[in-house]
Amino acid sequence: MTSALFQPFRLRGLALENRIMVSPMCQYSAVDGSMTDWHFAHLGMLSVSGAALLCFEMTDVEPAGRITPGCVGLYSDANEAAIRRVVDFCRAHGQAKLGIQLAHAGRKASTTPPWDARKTLRPEDGGWQPVGPSAIAMAEDSPVPRALSLAEIRALIAKFADSASRAERIGFDAIELHSAHGYLLHQFLSPLSNRRDDEYGGSLANRMRFPLQVVAAVRSAWPGQKPLGVRVSCTDWVEGGWDIEQTVAFAIELKKLGCDWIDASSGGLMKDQVIPVGPGYQVPFAERIRKDAGITTVAIGLITEARQAEKIIAEGKADMVALARGFLWDPRWAWHAALELGATPHMPPQYLRARPAARADVFGERQHARK
Ligand SMILES: Cc1cc2nc3c(=O)[nH]c(=O)nc-3n(C[C@H](O)[C@H](O)[C@H](O)COP(=O)(O)O)c2cc1C
Repeated sequence: MTSALFQPFRLRGLALENRIMVSPMCQYSAVDGSMTDWHFAHLGMLSVSGAALLCFEMTDVEPAGRITPGCVGLYSDANEAAIRRVVDFCRAHGQAKLGIQLAHAGRKASTTPPWDARKTLRPEDGGWQPVGPSAIAMAEDSPVPRALSLAEIRALIAKFADSASRAERIGFDAIELHSAHGYLLHQFLSPLSNRRDDEYGGSLANRMRFPLQVVAAVRSAWPGQKPLGVRVSCTDWVEGGWDIEQTVAFAIELKKLGCDWIDASSGGLMKDQVIPVGPGYQVPFAERIRKDAGITTVAIGLITEARQAEKIIAEGKADMVALARGFLWDPRWAWHAALELGATPHMPPQYLRARPAARADVFGERQHARK
C-alpha cells in the first residue's frame, strides 16, 4: 500500500518528506518576547515527531503585537538569539523542516493567557493599548483599539519585513504569515472590523491592501528559494463578514505575489461567531481554494485520525494537513499514522527499540538498532 499522506512534497526549494505539518501553537511561555526552556523542550520534542514541517508559534513583529505578555516576538536581538537556540537543537536532533508564523495581534492584544480566561490586561496591570484598522471592539465587553495612522501602517509593513530578515538569519526553512483568527491582518480584511475611509478600507481591494503589502514586503526580504505561506480565516462565521468568496479572491492575489500555500482556517474575529465544529469542518475551504485559486492548500481543524488525513490528501482536497491539538495529545502522531498506513516512520535512533513487536520490520535496514 502506498500512502498519499506519506508521499513527499515540494514547496519552492523546500523538500518535505510527507504531507504532515505541526500547526503553530502559542505557548504563552516567553519572557519579553523571548523563547524559554519550555519552548526548547516543546519544540525539540515536536521536531522529532515525524511531521515534515514544524511551524513555530505565532511570533509577533513588535511588542504591542503580542496577545499576552508571554507571547513570542521576533523584534529584538535577544528574541532572535533565544529562537536560534531552539532552532539549533531542532536542526541537530530533529528531522522536521522548520517554519515560523509571523503575526500581529492587533485589537486582540494585551490579554492574560487562555488558562487565565483571556482577561483584558489594562495598561495599569502590565498591559498596553491595542491597535487595529478602526476603533471597533471585538465585542461590547472588549477594549476599543486605537485606529492605526497611515504612518503606523507603513512602519508595521517594515516591521514584518524586519522579522522576516531575522527569520532568514536564524535559518528557518519557511514563513507563514498569520492573516487569520481575528488578528491584525484579518482585521483589515473583514468589513466587520475595518471601517476605514482611506485606501485601506471600503472596497475588497482596499481591505486587502495592507495584508498584500505585508506579503510583498516579506517576500522581498525572504530568499527566493524559500517558501512563504499565509494562514487565512476563510469565513468570519458571521453574517456580513469576511467569507469564502473573498478568500478565493485574496488567494488569487496572494499567489501573484509569490505566496506558496494557503493554510485554510476560519473564525476568530467576532465573539458572536457561530461555528459548525466537527471532524474536518474546514477541509471544504482548503478544497475550494485549491480548485478556484490554483494554489497549494493546507487543511486544518479537527483532523485527528490517520485515515481521515490520508483521505483528504488522496482525494485531492488539500496538499497537506496540519494538526495542532492532535500533536499536543500525541507527539508521536505521525509515527502512529505511518504504522497504520503502511509507511515507514522517521524516528530518532535513540528510540528505535520502541518499535512494536508486531511490526519488527518497520524500519528496514535500521532494524539492527534493536538488540
Ligand atoms: C494551544 C494552542 C495554541 C494555538 N496557537 C496558534 C497560533 O499560534 N497560531 C495559529 O495560527 N493558530 C493557533 N492555534 C490554532 C491551531 O493552529 C489550529 O488551527 C486549531 O487548533 C485547529 O486545529 P486542531 O483541531 O488540529 O487543533 C492554537 C491552538 C492551540 C490548541
